[in-house]
Amino acid sequence: MSMRITLGRPDDMHLHLRDGAMLEAVLPETARHFARAIVMPNLVPPVVTGRDAAAYRARILAALPAGMAFEPLMTLYLTEATEAEDVAAAHAAGLIRAVKLYPAGATTNSQSGVRDFDRVRGVLERMAEIGLTLCVHGEVTDPEIDIFDREAVFIDRVLEPIRRATPGLRVVMEHVTTSDAVDYVRAGDETLAATITTHHLILNRNHILAGGIRPHYYCLPVAKRERHRLALRAAATGGETRFFLGTDSAPHPDSLKESACGCAGCFTATNTLPILAHVFEEEGALDRLEGFTSRHGAAFYGLAPNPGTVTLIRGEPVAFPARIETGAGPVTVFDPGFAVCWRVAG
Ligand code: NCD
Ligand code: ZN
Repeated sequence: MSMRITLGRPDDMHLHLRDGAMLEAVLPETARHFARAIVMPNLVPPVVTGRDAAAYRARILAALPAGMAFEPLMTLYLTEATEAEDVAAAHAAGLIRAVKLYPAGATTNSQSGVRDFDRVRGVLERMAEIGLTLCVHGEVTDPEIDIFDREAVFIDRVLEPIRRATPGLRVVMEHVTTSDAVDYVRAGDETLAATITTHHLILNRNHILAGGIRPHYYCLPVAKRERHRLALRAAATGGETRFFLGTDSAPHPDSLKESACGCAGCFTATNTLPILAHVFEEEGALDRLEGFTSRHGAAFYGLAPNPGTVTLIRGEPVAFPARIETGAGPVTVFDPGFAVCWRVAG
C-alpha cells in the first residue's frame, strides 16, 4: 500500500561528522534530510576551546555542497583543563549549544576525557548558571564493570551525583541503551532528557554476536538485551517529549571496523529516516515520528522548529547503498536486516 507522511524538517541531536575527506563524504548524507545537528567534538585532537569550535564549524560549512542548507550546532569536548570563562564566552557568542562529557577511555577518541569529575565542577556550575546543556556519554570505564552494565552503573556512580551537586544543570543522556536509563530519565525533571539512536531501536546483543560477529553492529554503548531494546522503542515511539533522536551516526572506514580490534560506531545517516518510519509504523506510532525527529529535541535545546518539511513515501522495498565511498575508504551503511519500504521524497 502506498502511503506518505510529512514531517517538519528534522534535527539530529547527536552526530559525528569527522573532518577532512570523511567530513566531505558524510556531511551530504545528513544535510540531505536534516536541517541541523548537534555535532560531536571527538576529533583528533578534540574540539576543546571556543576557537576550535569556530574553526571546525567553518570547515563543516566549507564542506557543504552548494545548494544544501545545514546548520551545525557545535559542542565543546570537556577536559579537566577546560576553562569556565572560555565555555561561557563561546555560549554567549552563540557558537556552541552544548558541552560533551566523555569519561576518559569510554569510547572512540575519548582519551582526553574526564577522569576526576571534581576537576570539572566549576565548569558544570557555570553551565548550570547560563543554561548550557551537558551532553553525557553515560558509561563508566572501570575495567571491573562488565561492558553490558556500564551504563546502568554510570547513572548511580556518576550522573546522579553530578546532577545532585549541580542543581539546574541541563543534561542530555546520550544514546541510551537500557531500561535503567529510560526509567532514570522519566523520573527526572525537565532539565533531563535523552537521545535515542536509530540502530538501538533495531539491535539487541544477539544481532552483534549470534551466528558470527558483525562488526558493523558494534557501537558504544553496545546494544543490550532484547528487553532493553523494547524499552527504548517504547520511549522513542511513546510521544514523551524528553526522548528525541540523536543518531550517533559514526562513520569509520571499513578497514578499521572489519579488523581484529574493530572500532565502535554505526553509520546510519543515509537511511535513518526511512528506518525510523518503519519502526514507528510497526509500533502504530507514525503520528509520533515528527515529535521524535523534529520537535522534542529542538524544544529541549530552546530552538525554534525548522522551517520546511520532509516527506516519506511508503512503496516497494528500497535498495539503499551498501556503502558510501569516502576519501578515507569505503564506509558501510547500516543494514537494519529487514526490508525497508519507506524512502524520502525528492
Ligand atoms: C562514536 C565514534 O565513533 O566517534 N562511536 C560509537 O560507537 N558511538 C563515539 C561515541 O559516540 O561513543
Ligand atoms: Zn556518539
